Amino acid sequence: MKNTEQLEPTVFVIFGGAGDLTWRKLIPALFDLSQDRSLPAKFAIIAVDRIRLRDGSLRRRLHGGVNQFSRFGKARPAEWNQFAQHIHYQQGDFKKPSTYAALGGQCAALEKQWGTKAHRIFYMATPPAMFGEIPKYLGKAGLARDREWARIVIEKPIGYDLASALSLNAVLAASFTESQIFRIDHYLGKETVQNILAFRFANPLFEPIWNRRYVDYVTITVAESVGVEHRGGYYDRAGALRDMVQNHLMQLLCLVAMEPMVSFDADEIRNKKVDVLHAVRPIHPDAVSQCAVRGQYGPGTIAGAKVPGYREEAGVAPDSQTETFAALRLYLDNWRWQDVPFYLRTGKRLPQQASEISIQFRAVPHRSFPPGASLGWQPSRLVMSIQPDEGIVLGFQAKYPGPKMQLRPVDMRFSYRESFDAPSPDAYETLLWDVMKNDATLFMRADQVEAAWRLLTPVLEAWATAQPGDFPNYDSGSWGPEAVQGLLAHQDHRWPQIAVLVKQGDAKRNRTRPGSR
Ligand code: BG6
Repeated sequence: MKNTEQLEPTVFVIFGGAGDLTWRKLIPALFDLSQDRSLPAKFAIIAVDRIRLRDGSLRRRLHGGVNQFSRFGKARPAEWNQFAQHIHYQQGDFKKPSTYAALGGQCAALEKQWGTKAHRIFYMATPPAMFGEIPKYLGKAGLARDREWARIVIEKPIGYDLASALSLNAVLAASFTESQIFRIDHYLGKETVQNILAFRFANPLFEPIWNRRYVDYVTITVAESVGVEHRGGYYDRAGALRDMVQNHLMQLLCLVAMEPMVSFDADEIRNKKVDVLHAVRPIHPDAVSQCAVRGQYGPGTIAGAKVPGYREEAGVAPDSQTETFAALRLYLDNWRWQDVPFYLRTGKRLPQQASEISIQFRAVPHRSFPPGASLGWQPSRLVMSIQPDEGIVLGFQAKYPGPKMQLRPVDMRFSYRESFDAPSPDAYETLLWDVMKNDATLFMRADQVEAAWRLLTPVLEAWATAQPGDFPNYDSGSWGPEAVQGLLAHQDHRWPQIAVLVKQGDAKRNRTRPGSR
């Protein structure tokens, strides 16, 4: 990423500094930024946590995380040692004022040593129960007071439902102004997610047809092949709707459906995004079963390996009613999208990891080619592939070589890997760098979080009231419960096949003789 932009002196405080997020994500991302010379010259990390730990043992532990998760692979000793000297440990209870007094003292000492004022970033990498506490103590200790130089970072879950999100936002707002609060949705840090804006608004090509006149329907898929891994305890209280739809899928929906922004100003973009959520047609409580589908995985086979069902995972109740799959059909009541369905689906233990947005265009209004000319007519489709393949595929009709007019669908592909000689940074690198730059464009504002909870409330309530009864209802390694087809079928729509970006075998496929499919 190599950034020449000069960052001002910064103290990066991590609450939960001895925890998993710090080890797995935050320190590797900060280390990678240091390797790209993208950290301020005057920089310190203060890891705060309850356990007793010396600087040396914390650094050794974090070194292990960097070796495992850094984009650059194993850290060279000299590079690690150079970086590690910026890391300090402070033992402290998150619910004791003395912790914050000591922290204030340490920040002040660093500023004195540097001979300059520093930005103070407070990152809550703690269990969510602390999210409502730490801001209060920071506020009381006067550490939130400087509107320009103090910031707080919080990552989901931002509430458990609308009421708890409102009260968490209120706690944050009691000590910090909105411009000081950075709510992370790591999807927004992904290159391909940011590219949605670039693709839509830096090119004049698609915007004129990006509307109800030309778009038949849109699907947003975030499929995971992994199960709940080691997070059964957390997940069993959350479920797919809270864990993925409320945040990541809503962000994708906003980016794909928003109006063009007037400028690249953070609030301008966030205003346009929140407009999308406000336009979502409210789901009537009686209609939840028609526009939402839930599922839970049973045992099955993925990539040739047998995997257990959700109820057999560690930390999960043996009779759990938590959904590991969720799908929705939404409509936006506005001029651009009236009556165009947006289908969202996400699930764990699906056959492959794949996140993509598919824009299915309408068929041509009149087919002037003879019926026999088509070798599998498909209306044009544009796929934005978020991961693991990163790129865009446009499917359209082309004339098959030969004397006869015969048409068959072909794909035009853009792959990040092939087009750019630069690896994509991890989402956290981008986001942490933005926090240091004080750029809130890629972060969620309070009103957006609340709007997302609000629109999902009828589904959350209906699902909490009525037990599913048929769980587990999909095998691991399948594309979710049967009922998910029904969400689209009434309009003759279909979940698309996952697009293939890697060109392997392409030439061969395109040479297939007409009629051979
Ligand atoms: C997290 C969810 O927010 O996103 C996880 O809590 C999920 O359950 C993860 O696995 C997916 O993120 P990514 O970047 O791997 O698609």
